[in-house]
Amino acid sequence: AMATATATTACLLAVWSLVAAGLFGTGLARSSVAPAAVGKEQREFDYFALALQWPGTICSSTRHCCAVNGCCRSEALHTFTIHGLWPDYDDGTWPSCCRHTSFDMDKLTPLKPALDKYWPSLYCSSSSTCFSGRGPFWAHEWEKHGTCSAPVVHEELQYFTAAIDLYLKYNVTEMLATGDILVSNGKEYALSDVIDTIKHAFGGSPQIICKKGSVEELRLCFTKDLKE
Ligand SMILES: *[C@@H]1O[C@H](CO)[C@@H](O)[C@H](O)[C@H]1NC(C)=O
Repeated sequence: AMATATATTACLLAVWSLVAAGLFGTGLARSSVAPAAVGKEQREFDYFALALQWPGTICSSTRHCCAVNGCCRSEALHTFTIHGLWPDYDDGTWPSCCRHTSFDMDKLTPLKPALDKYWPSLYCSSSSTCFSGRGPFWAHEWEKHGTCSAPVVHEELQYFTAAIDLYLKYNVTEMLATGDILVSNGKEYALSDVIDTIKHAFGGSPQIICKKGSVEELRLCFTKDLKE
């Protein structure tokens, strides 16, 4: 469904196609849609999606632990965490790896506590970066998506700051609570109620990705200027 979605309805269609398919079962992985060609000049993106992950769903398949994996903390994560801020095209595809710029952790020193808290990796293995490298989860997000965020976001610190600012401003836990939806592992709510509540509180439909009947990811769409 996503591949054929047009214009500003991209997120909305993805959600409703899940509903039509009987709500759950099939995860709507982004990888099911071919990304725009890598390494070529790519046109400017159309809108941003703030992708949030639900650790309970992802961590339920953690098999071994390591220091970088947020799933392995002594205090379990009980809140949505950031996956990334993604520039997208209206046609369901997205630009990726737009510039040759390597990730530099030192530039993010001022944000390190916030990144650890709100944007942890939920895996042990390092992530692929553009141009066949590997690195921390943040390197993957910056190189693959962040470099395509121009002309709105130009550099690394600005990219991570923008994502964290949105995350703090649009607290989905609070939005869901306005509809008496208290997010936690094992609680079940009708998907339509989740969508309606976010729609009401946020002003736009979320895109929801499920895995084996549980919410794995929730995405909010923003216009290019980072307004909802
Ligand atoms: C979001 O709101 C919940 C409920 O009020 C709160 O516990 C949580 O700390 C907030 N999250 C962030 C990142 O501010």
